[in-house]
Amino acid sequence: MPQFATSPAWQALLAHRDAMAGKRISELWEDDPGRGPALTFKCAGIELDFSKQRITTETVSLLVALARDRGVPAAIERLFTGERVNVTENRPALHTALRGDEHVRVDGEDLLPEIQRARERLRVLAQGVRDGLWKGATGERIRHVLALGIGGSSLGPRLAIEALRGEADGPEVRFVENIDAAEFDDAAKGFDPAATLVIVASKTFTTQETMGNAQVARDWLVAALGPESIPKHVIAASANFEEAAKFGLPECNVFPFGDYVGGRYSVWSSVGLPVAIAIGAQRFEQLLAGAHAADLAFRSTPLEHNAAALLALVGIWNRNALGIPTHAVLPYASRMEHLTAYLQQLEMESNGKRVDAEGNPVDFETCPVVWGGKETPGQHAFHQWLHQGTDIASCDFIVVARPMGERKDHHEILLAHALAQSEALMEGLATPQTHKACPGDRMSTTMVLPRLDPHNLGALLAMYEHKAFVQGTVWGVNPFDQFGVELGKVIAGQILPAVRGGEAALHPATHHLLGVVKKLSRA
Ligand code: F6P
Repeated sequence: MPQFATSPAWQALLAHRDAMAGKRISELWEDDPGRGPALTFKCAGIELDFSKQRITTETVSLLVALARDRGVPAAIERLFTGERVNVTENRPALHTALRGDEHVRVDGEDLLPEIQRARERLRVLAQGVRDGLWKGATGERIRHVLALGIGGSSLGPRLAIEALRGEADGPEVRFVENIDAAEFDDAAKGFDPAATLVIVASKTFTTQETMGNAQVARDWLVAALGPESIPKHVIAASANFEEAAKFGLPECNVFPFGDYVGGRYSVWSSVGLPVAIAIGAQRFEQLLAGAHAADLAFRSTPLEHNAAALLALVGIWNRNALGIPTHAVLPYASRMEHLTAYLQQLEMESNGKRVDAEGNPVDFETCPVVWGGKETPGQHAFHQWLHQGTDIASCDFIVVARPMGERKDHHEILLAHALAQSEALMEGLATPQTHKACPGDRMSTTMVLPRLDPHNLGALLAMYEHKAFVQGTVWGVNPFDQFGVELGKVIAGQILPAVRGGEAALHPATHHLLGVVKKLSRA
């Protein structure tokens, strides 16, 4: 693919940016008071208001022209129809197939029957556990779930369970992600092994952290219930059936998914089992249905009105035309606190790349730093930086229209703060007292969910997945691989013998630092 920075479509955008130079967002509002509705777009019930971005309808047209020039419409079709869009790993990326009911063929094989079978198995297990039909080895009902996994094998399920806490009426789920000596013990504290189901989620079933915790979980169960208890207490969700079986599980305890599902796109697969157990299979299916609705909208809506595509394109405008290096995720919903971590993996692991899909260095910046937190607590922490810092971040405000609890008055205050923050960032404050002045002209998108329920959450996450896909396509990088994470894993393997007190050829810097750690471990 030709380079991005020199393309006529991009050059047209830069000329447009230069023509708009010096124009503040507040002036764009004065020029066109109707820009609110003109720059608000819908996706599966969610509305995205781009009117506080430094854009006009002309910017949208030019961004859409860029997307066309970069082949976005054809790429969307390739994604949905099972082409090998993950070119560096020679695989399709068919997370969308997991939530739809369309026939998708890969190498002539229709994937729908296997996907439907997997969905049915997940439904039966989740319901069986919730109804007390699936019992532990001693006949106890399952009351606890330990969900083992890391990265995409935990971020999505953890976000979904937390976000849908209001509907989580099944066994309590706790997550074990890290290979920290305390993590398993902390999570298992107070759980009765006889009433606990351990779900080991790992696409590869070789991830060191997850396998380490799986071993600890097995020992914990065996110590309490004996080795025969394992089939009643351990389930695997994996794309590597052989490895999962080697762990000593009967075939029926392994819930497979295809290797055409990337780790960070796997919450829709059997990796979502903890979610289905916590909220029920029916609500889990609503999560899938919401994502499917966003898929249909993404695939069928012209780019000019396509909310997910525009989310991506406005992000490119901010990153590449306006030079904004970081992007803040600001959910005004306590239960969506984990959205930031989820999007960090989704966007930064997908598009944190410096070469294009053919391996050529890119001639532009790719994924910004994604960060954020829970609002309003963030207002009392890092919003100072957003309003008066020397750097500018683009922001996504995520707002839920209906209250998430009984206290309507609290929700009204929450809403007022969300609306105030985006206005304050845009308008700023002009005053001769320089320490009080806020420069304003800081851009944000606000997305409004009618309510925080499985359908809308599914739609929101799918929309962000499509954002990452469109950005990857425009930048020309492969959003479905993550080779950058491998180097550290290899070096950790080389260092581990020395950490354990044995021999290893260490870099002098590592040798020095390990010495410091060992000294302090004896202090
Ligand atoms: O190390 C990165 C990564 O491969 C992620 O892409 C993935 O979500 C995570 O590790 C966990 O991998 P797995 O599901 O194979 O255990």
